[in-house]
Amino acid sequence: MYYSPLRLALGGLGLVTSSALATNLYVSSYSGDITSLRLSQSDNGSYALAVVATNRGSAPSPAWLEKEPGKGVVYCMDEGLPVPNGSISSYRTSPCGELTLIDRHTTISGPVSSVVYNKGKAMAAAHYGGSAVTTWNILPTGGLSPLQNFTFKLSAPGTNPGRQDAPHPHEAIVDPTDSFIIVPDLGADLLRVFSIDPATSALTPSKSFSTPPGSGPRHGAFSVSGCADIKNQECLASKADTYFFVVSEISNNVTSYKVTYGNKTLDFTEVFTTGIYGNQTTPVGAAAGEALISPDNKFLLTSSRNATLFSIPNFDSTNSTKIPSDTLQSWSIDHTTGKLSFRQSAPAGGSFPRQFSVNQKGTLVAVGLQLSSRVVIMERNPSDGTFGKFVAEVGVTGDVTSVIWDE
Ligand SMILES: *[C@@H]1O[C@H](CO)[C@@H](O)[C@H](O)[C@H]1NC(C)=O
Ligand SMILES: *[C@@H]1O[C@H](CO)[C@@H](O)[C@H](O)[C@H]1NC(C)=O
Ligand SMILES: *[C@@H]1O[C@H](CO)[C@@H](O)[C@H](O)[C@H]1NC(C)=O
Ligand SMILES: *[C@@H]1O[C@H](CO)[C@@H](O)[C@H](O)[C@H]1NC(C)=O
Ligand SMILES: *[C@@H]1O[C@H](CO)[C@@H](O)[C@H](O)[C@H]1NC(C)=O
Ligand SMILES: *[C@@H]1O[C@H](CO)[C@@H](O)[C@H](O)[C@H]1NC(C)=O
Ligand SMILES: *[C@@H]1O[C@H](CO)[C@@H](O)[C@H](O)[C@H]1NC(C)=O
Ligand SMILES: *[C@@H]1O[C@H](CO)[C@@H](O)[C@H](O)[C@H]1NC(C)=O
Repeated sequence: MYYSPLRLALGGLGLVTSSALATNLYVSSYSGDITSLRLSQSDNGSYALAVVATNRGSAPSPAWLEKEPGKGVVYCMDEGLPVPNGSISSYRTSPCGELTLIDRHTTISGPVSSVVYNKGKAMAAAHYGGSAVTTWNILPTGGLSPLQNFTFKLSAPGTNPGRQDAPHPHEAIVDPTDSFIIVPDLGADLLRVFSIDPATSALTPSKSFSTPPGSGPRHGAFSVSGCADIKNQECLASKADTYFFVVSEISNNVTSYKVTYGNKTLDFTEVFTTGIYGNQTTPVGAAAGEALISPDNKFLLTSSRNATLFSIPNFDSTNSTKIPSDTLQSWSIDHTTGKLSFRQSAPAGGSFPRQFSVNQKGTLVAVGLQLSSRVVIMERNPSDGTFGKFVAEVGVTGDVTSVIWDE
């Protein structure tokens, strides 16, 4: 939601202010902080990004933030890197950006992603370190109560024993009909599938899908043909041609699957695979990151780390030293086949764009740059799907792990 407390307050007094539009964002970092930012736009169109609140040391390793649009609660997955357990917290948001703790639970180690499902009644978390998926009931207060724990084992290490020593669930994703949770497991080369019981929110493990050995599936996103808005539940539930796009961290591939619905099962048929760098060779050491669908459902947006293909002007205009930058990619989706067309490789704004988010209009992108300890805001052209110029940036202490919009 856009709001302008300054303009509302000062406007009433007949004063002029330069803050025409403002929105808050929340940033997680391995420093232990959750930092609240405010992005404001002046009447002349220029943007400013500033820290407005810091929630310090709430937990050692915040790795992922999630907020349901229109609801004033932020969920934080804390990986608990230096301690035996992870934790899952919820916070109440406020217009000034301050977050107030509602609830916190100790849990299995290593939660790195969450998704709210079953019409907002429950949340599923993927635990990378603890080789698990947990589910939680969402209480009316925004607090959580534990629902289920699933832990997984490997009988032998995978193709890449360094990364595939154990199952490593990396993301929890709800399907467009709100009937299944899909968990890419980087360590086990699996898409784990669970069906949702709408009456209780409980998950039941369903048939999993094996990805190529050594691919290391990390993140994914669904797209349904004919839906011009990824939040239109009625359209999404139509089960018109449904595709699932997977970004695999170890193979650095992007794969499209056609999804078919069975009786409490999902089937995946591969329709397209490409390297995440599109028409460029995948650099040695690259580590594919994020996968998102644009709000208009037309584009897949991805990030990749540890290959600084760009060198960009310093954000400090008095500093002539250029900044090495990893990449974001844009792909247009052919909804009749599920195939992708590579549109663009763009500078991410620094090193290790582990996660990024797009505002609801699809016009601005916030990128969390883990090793640059920075958040950048860049423009995006919703009609051709391309990333544009950087419009604001701010330093954030520690390894930045995620950044979300308060909309
Ligand atoms: C736009 O306005 C902001 C704040 O009011 C100011 O700092 C900036 O210099 C202006 N930019 C231009 C290009 O006029
Ligand atoms: C802490 O983590 C261990 C190991 O993952 C797990 O067995 C234990 O149940 C966890 N404790 C809580 C309260 O989740
Ligand atoms: C999940 O595990 C935690 C400890 O790790 C425990 O407190 C909780 O009761 C477990 N939940 C279920 C449903 O087994
Ligand atoms: C779905 O499968 C369950 C058993 O897993 C069975 O009882 C039920 O009849 C099946 N439903 C349909 C529509 O095939
Ligand atoms: C990655 O994709 C390429 C095609 O771009 C394919 O040849 C290769 O087998 C894929 N690797 C894995 C592990 O899926
Ligand atoms: C980054 O890539 C280099 C090779 O260019 C590799 O040695 C290093 O392990 C990679 N780092 C990470 C964190 O993936
Ligand atoms: C200039 O930018 C480089 C790269 O970000 C940085 O390492 C250096 O400290 C900066 N120099 C000054 C004087 O701020
Ligand atoms: C790669 O694709 C981009 C985007 O379509 C295009 O601008 C660029 O010219 C292509 N480069 C090569 C070497 O084909």
